[in-house]
Amino acid sequence: MNFWLLLENSLVNLRETEMDKGGKMKNRLSRRDFLRTGMCLSAASFLTSGKSLSSREMKSSKRLVIASGNGLRATEKAMELLKKGEDPLDAVIAGVNIVEEDPEDMSVGYGGLPNEEGVVELDASVMHGPTHNGGAVASLRNIKTPSQVAKLVMERTDHALLVGEGALKFAKAHGFKEENLLTDKARKKWLRWKETLSAKDYWFPLQKDEVEPELQSVLTYHGTINCLAIDEKSDLAGVTTTSGFDYKIPGRVGDSPIIGAGLYVDNEVGAAGSTGRGEANILNCGSFTVVEFMRRGNSPEEACLQTLKRIASKSKLQTHLLNKDGLPRFNLKFYAINKKGEYGAASMWSDGKFVVHDGQENKSIEIAYLFKNGEERKQN
Ligand code: GLY
Repeated sequence: MNFWLLLENSLVNLRETEMDKGGKMKNRLSRRDFLRTGMCLSAASFLTSGKSLSSREMKSSKRLVIASGNGLRATEKAMELLKKGEDPLDAVIAGVNIVEEDPEDMSVGYGGLPNEEGVVELDASVMHGPTHNGGAVASLRNIKTPSQVAKLVMERTDHALLVGEGALKFAKAHGFKEENLLTDKARKKWLRWKETLSAKDYWFPLQKDEVEPELQSVLTYHGTINCLAIDEKSDLAGVTTTSGFDYKIPGRVGDSPIIGAGLYVDNEVGAAGSTGRGEANILNCGSFTVVEFMRRGNSPEEACLQTLKRIASKSKLQTHLLNKDGLPRFNLKFYAINKKGEYGAASMWSDGKFVVHDGQENKSIEIAYLFKNGEERKQN
């Protein structure tokens, strides 16, 4: 059977998912109504009581943390905190803070590659399963740990997303200090990119033999970190944080701070997050879709693969996103945990890893994939 036809067939069942999404929006409005009428305490106690879980589900729970491939230190830290009984959201945020503050990870936080004007702009979101609450910041400048600011948006405002200047003012009001996030290494990479953009500009690049090896390539590069956790009470939480596409147009916002795209948590079903090409993810509500597939009974890995199939199928309508074989020429990865503590991840293209800490061992494992690098033609 034709490959694309196979994809279409596998996606037909998502219609109900889209209807569920409308239902969720109604739930969100009623949550706000509760807040406004001062009933938040009774609502919170209902949501955290776990009464909607069967006793079988409660028994099958286990502590687990997963993250994107750059998250080995994040999962270690998050598991340490889960074992101390910390809230799963606090645990995953403390985990990703290590990467946000590390100048060597050039896809997240301090040391992230800048926008086309040489300014680092950060995006992050958090979501807390027990309260079905979330917060996010986008295009945030000068603050190393946007995930912490996202959590404050969730806790200290009635909003879900703050951007740019407003997000920075909000962070400063809460005591965050402004810092220059552009490291020397990131500045040199950005400058090299700028100098080699065109043969007709006014920037003179160094001669090839003068260029440091790590600056020889000006290929664009993007990463992100997603980290998800389930605690011993089967409560879920997640965080996604990034510096976004390197050399992006100032103000470009990716999927990481978009609840439903870069991150989604439904405490009754599971949690999902993503890394990779944000635009494709935003246009397909990726993490929300992964959770909906899990709601329908798919395993976390299968849910991630089904979502990637849908995105691959939709991408064929945008020819600039296709390689010579008609397949998506971008990568995108999803990570997921379900309510039982089962986990999985999948990538559009092969050769990636993700990280899992099961309470005993913290390890990097091969990620499932939709297309195998180097064997594109065999897929048709
Ligand atoms: N997934 C990160 C971004 O697109 O910004």
